[in-house]
Amino acid sequence: MKFFVDTADTKAIRELNELGMVDGVTTNPSLIAKSGRDIREVTKEICEMIPGPVSAETVALDAEGMVAEGRELAKIADNIAIKVPLTWDGLKACKVLSGEGRMVNVTLCFSANQALLAAKAGATFISPFIGRLDDINLDGMQLIADIRQIYDNYGFQTQILAASIRSANHMSEAAKIGADVATAPPNVIKAMASHPLTDKGLEGFLKDWAATGQKIL
Ligand code: G3P
Repeated sequence: MKFFVDTADTKAIRELNELGMVDGVTTNPSLIAKSGRDIREVTKEICEMIPGPVSAETVALDAEGMVAEGRELAKIADNIAIKVPLTWDGLKACKVLSGEGRMVNVTLCFSANQALLAAKAGATFISPFIGRLDDINLDGMQLIADIRQIYDNYGFQTQILAASIRSANHMSEAAKIGADVATAPPNVIKAMASHPLTDKGLEGFLKDWAATGQKIL
């Protein structure tokens, strides 16, 4: 499973990238707002750091506007994936932009039917939002499984990009189902390294080692 980082915080992206944990980056209008930076400036900096796909989201509501904004965002770098919402107009924009050979990430997906339409429209990535479904007591992970089954039934090449990931558990569950990509905030990727038994075991080893009076260096 590829790891994308769901942030526009360049410091956090750099830190994870040094460990080889970053295959791509996803941003959205809320994350750009949180960064406090200009969309072109921050997205360009991310694209120069990460060779993989970097999603930048359109904000127009009509297909024509999304296509125009998508073409503009694609000028930032060759590795831009244009993000459009899963609306009827978003699907139209996806068809046009993917037809031009551009990477398109169709976002705000909350149903298997929406994912089926995005694949038909030529999406490079479909972004089902796990956490936001869980928030309203629905099963976000079941949606990932349903889309995996549908795409495999027909050999759709659209990559499942599990999004709205809120916990380390979401990462392993998405990987077990076979999501192609998971995009997670930096703190969730870091949390994947934590286990209480690792901490407890380390404490015990260090205590026993101290009792030997030995040194390695
Ligand atoms: O990038 C879209 C998605 O990952 C948002 O996550 O936590 O705001 O639902 P969240």
